[in-house]
Amino acid sequence: RTIMKEITLACEAFQKLLEEQLERIRNMNGEKTDFSTKKQVTIGVIDGDGIGPVITAQATRVLEKLLAEEIAAGSIVIKQIEGLTIENRMACGKAIPDDVLAEIKTCDVLLKGPTTTPMGGKMESANVAMRRELDLYANCRPVCIPEKNIDWMFFRENTEGEYVLGSRGVELPGMAVDFKVTTDPGTRRIARAAFDYARRNGKTRVTVVTKANILKNNGKTHVAVVTKANIMKKTDGKFTAICHEVAADYPGITVDDYYIDIMTANLLKEPLREQFQVVLLPNLYGDIITDEAAQIQGGVGTAGSANVGDRYAMFEAIHGSAPRMIERGMGDYANPASIIKAAAMLLRHICRADAAARLEKAMAECKVEVKSDGTAATAAQYADAVMALL
Ligand code: IPM
Ligand code: MG
Repeated sequence: RTIMKEITLACEAFQKLLEEQLERIRNMNGEKTDFSTKKQVTIGVIDGDGIGPVITAQATRVLEKLLAEEIAAGSIVIKQIEGLTIENRMACGKAIPDDVLAEIKTCDVLLKGPTTTPMGGKMESANVAMRRELDLYANCRPVCIPEKNIDWMFFRENTEGEYVLGSRGVELPGMAVDFKVTTDPGTRRIARAAFDYARRNGKTRVTVVTKANILKNNGKTHVAVVTKANIMKKTDGKFTAICHEVAADYPGITVDDYYIDIMTANLLKEPLREQFQVVLLPNLYGDIITDEAAQIQGGVGTAGSANVGDRYAMFEAIHGSAPRMIERGMGDYANPASIIKAAAMLLRHICRADAAARLEKAMAECKVEVKSDGTAATAAQYADAVMALL
C-alpha cells in the first residue's frame, strides 16, 4: 500500500470515530435510578482475574452479613456473574463477552474484582469497556487520612479523554497515533457530580486539574510544543472552561486551577495538601494521581472506587489484578480492604447508609494487617476481623 493510501484509510477511521462520538453525546440522557424507593436491588458480583476472586469473595461475605435480613426478605439480591475472566475474554475476542454483558445489565449495581488488561494488541480493557457500556461517567475515589488532616475526594471523568478511543488509535509505517476526546456534555456531567458532592458534603473547595497551560508556559519552545499543546489546549482547555461554567451555579464553592504536574508534587507537600477537598480531573490524570493519593494513604490496596452513571454503578478496588502475587503463590495474602471499602461505597449508593456506616466504623477499628509478602494476616482473616466488629 502506498503511504497516501495509508493516510486515506487512517482519515476514514478518524471520520468514523468522530461520527461515533457525536452519536455518543447525542445519546447521553440522564434518567437516574432512585434507590430510596426501589423495591428490589440486584447486586452483581464479578470475581475478575488474579487476586480478584480472593478479595471479592471476602467483600461478598461482608455484604451478605450486613444485608442478611434484606436478602432473606428479597429486597436485596446478590447475583454471581461468571465469565469475565481473561481466559474467556481472550477466547471470545471481546473485552466483555455478549452474554456476560447481558447478565451485567440485569443488575442495578456491581461489585467487581480487578480484571487483567493485556498490554498492546487490540483487546480493550474490561474496565474501560464496562465504564463505556454502562456509561459510568463519574469515578469517585476517596482518600482519607485523619491523622494527617487529609480528606480528599477525587472525581475523575471516566468515559472520555485518552481512554474512550484508547484501543482505536491508528498505525502508519513508523508512526502511531492515539486520540483524546473531551465533550461538552461529558464534562458538564462530571463537573455537576463533583459540585453536587461538594455541596451535599459541606465542602467549599473544588480543584480542577488539567494540563491546559502547556502552550502559555512554554513560549520558548513554541514550535516544538505547539502541535501537542494545541491538542491539549483544546481538550483540557474545554474541560477547565466548562468546569468553571458549571461552578457559576454553585456560589460559595471556590474553584481554582492546578496543572497535573505540579498537583502530583502538591499531594506530597505539607501543609498545602491539607487544603484540597474535591479534586476534579479528566480521565488519565485522574487514573495516575489517584494511585499516588492511595499510596499516601497506605497503598493502592487500601483504596476503594465508585464508577457511577445515571442508571448503573460499579464498585471496585483502584488497583489491578496483581498477577505477580498469584505467580508467587501469595494470592491468599492480597489485601481485601480496597474492595471492602468499595462495598461500603456501594451500600451508601443504594441508600443503605446505616449498613455503610457500620462497615466503615468496623474497618476503621480493625487493627488486623494484611501484607503482600505474607508476613501478616490473610484476606479471609482480615474479613473475619472486620465482621467480628460489625
Ligand atoms: C483504574 C485502573 C484502570 C484504569 C485500568 C484497569 C484500565 O488503572 O481503574 O484506575 O486505567 O482506569
Ligand atoms: Mg489506575
